[in-house]
Amino acid sequence: MTAYTVEFVGTGETIEVEDTETVLSRAIEEGIAQEYSCRVGMCLACSAKIVEGDVTQPAARGLTDEEKENYALTCMARPQSDLKLDRGKYPPSIEKEAAVEAGAGDEATADD
Ligand code: FES
Repeated sequence: MTAYTVEFVGTGETIEVEDTETVLSRAIEEGIAQEYSCRVGMCLACSAKIVEGDVTQPAARGLTDEEKENYALTCMARPQSDLKLDRGKYPPSIEKEAAVEAGAGDEATADD
């Protein structure tokens, strides 16, 4: 087991996370206000942008392989190095879905 330092950028919060545990489970234990819901890698509520470092997250089914390069689902992500994570940042795919659900593009159909 190896412990890595995980820094949440912009918050001043830093925790130590073993490479055998998820960032989310340690964050909860440490009282960090990390959003989450499903805890099985599907909903993306716990997403964070990887500013620096590497994680392993093979069970992060809500992310594409490309998104896994830049985003961590903290409920699935185990550190492989010291990390800097930007909490509450979501991959472009979910941002597009949210825009559609919020009605973005309604103006385009109003003329139909
Ligand atoms: S809590 Fe749902 S993907 Fe992490």
